[in-house]
Amino acid sequence: MNIIDVKNLSFCYGETDVLDNISFSVEEGDFVGVIGSNGAGKSTLLKLLLGLLPYNTGSISILGHDRKSSRAINGLCYVSQKASSFNSAFPATVREVVTANLYPKLGLFHRPKKEDFALFDKVMEQVGLTGCENRLIGHLSGGQQQRVFIARALIASPKLLLLDEPTVGIDSMSVEVITELLRRLSKQGITIVMTNHDTASLVGLSNKLLILSGEGDCRFRRKADLSSGELRRLIAGGVFFD
Ligand SMILES: Nc1ncnc2c1ncn2[C@@H]1O[C@H](COP(=O)(O)OP(=O)(O)OP(=O)(O)O)[C@@H](O)[C@H]1O
Ligand SMILES: [Mg+2]
Repeated sequence: MNIIDVKNLSFCYGETDVLDNISFSVEEGDFVGVIGSNGAGKSTLLKLLLGLLPYNTGSISILGHDRKSSRAINGLCYVSQKASSFNSAFPATVREVVTANLYPKLGLFHRPKKEDFALFDKVMEQVGLTGCENRLIGHLSGGQQQRVFIARALIASPKLLLLDEPTVGIDSMSVEVITELLRRLSKQGITIVMTNHDTASLVGLSNKLLILSGEGDCRFRRKADLSSGELRRLIAGGVFFD
């Protein structure tokens, strides 16, 4: 079973056509970099995969579920560009923000068990935030906050992680920490679909690339199938579509 199957998908906002008859499949363990200029439809595509936007033409299957409805799919987690838009007065600790994402799995009226606390400790270690558990999230730096949101996704044991520009507005040290973390998660077999303004870094992480033309169509390629010239042009922001 593919992790994602998109077939003949078209989408428009009113008069604005964004995606025109695109198709691609993502396999388990893939790291897919979604590339395209501003307004090409990257965030729109992620929102469609998340079930946040209704579509009429084509089909989307995620982890074996038809994406026609917006209900939560077990194993699907999303990390948005939270750090720079986060309300720093939000009165919750890191522990509360991360463990809140256990409840879809546990059910609202079940208390976390010993193994859930162990999982919490593990994801905090994975994101390098051990020791920050009881700090208020609003008191952390942007990069630390973003790692909290990644921990929040990880505690739900995702099979598929969607990330929309997760390192925007974050200093270069934190970007490096998050990039390394994503590389490790990918090696562990989590399937990742991600957009990023830093195309060179994204291409470095990815094994497949979904390149949106900005005119509605896309190319889906294994990185290994692209020539070094094509990769260079892509990273330089050049036109890939001839
Ligand atoms: N809610 C909306 N209503 C109407 N048009 C929208 C809406 N959201 C996005 N658009 C338009 O759809 C197109 C794709 O937008 P989208 O946000 O998906 O682009 P993007 O590739 O994520 O861009 P960026 O690199 O700037 O994040 C743009 O032309 C945008 O103006
Ligand atoms: Mg976007």
